[in-house]
Amino acid sequence: MSDTVSFKLNHRPVQLQTDRNRLLLWVLRTDLGLTGPKYGCGEGHCGCCTVLLDKVAVRSCLIPVGSVQGREVVTIEGLEQDGELHPVQQAFIAHDALQCGFCIPGQVLHAVSLLNRNPSPTRKEIVRGMDNSLCRCGAHTRIIDAIQAAAAEMKGGK
Ligand code: FES
Ligand code: FES
Repeated sequence: MSDTVSFKLNHRPVQLQTDRNRLLLWVLRTDLGLTGPKYGCGEGHCGCCTVLLDKVAVRSCLIPVGSVQGREVVTIEGLEQDGELHPVQQAFIAHDALQCGFCIPGQVLHAVSLLNRNPSPTRKEIVRGMDNSLCRCGAHTRIIDAIQAAAAEMKGGK
């Protein structure tokens, strides 16, 4: 069955004819060509499909596209502004906080959501806040360093 679903995606309005029960992850990747959100576990455990929904990190592998009707979705492709990378993206680069790259779009958006909620997190709060965004290699400490640096850059850091 085909429904009309309209929402804001990466600062632009989009309108689709699709089954509103399809998962947002596959609509983004397959219909809209945004491959930043990745398919990892498909069950809400890993975080590599993360996008921002009204500025909050959500798992696009669990969300039906119909539930974003009228709302704002940002993927990693839409995080930069006026050609400038977001401070979290810049900090990940500066701290070499990426190894595989597969989990990084989700890690970055998760970190942005964390800093939206808590602009001056302690290291412990970052560890706790990023706990369910999985990195399977050795980048954990650099990811935490990067988020601390981004918080400071965004004038909230401790
Ligand atoms: S693919 Fe969505 S949480 Fe793992
Ligand atoms: S950087 Fe992706 S799993 Fe560690």
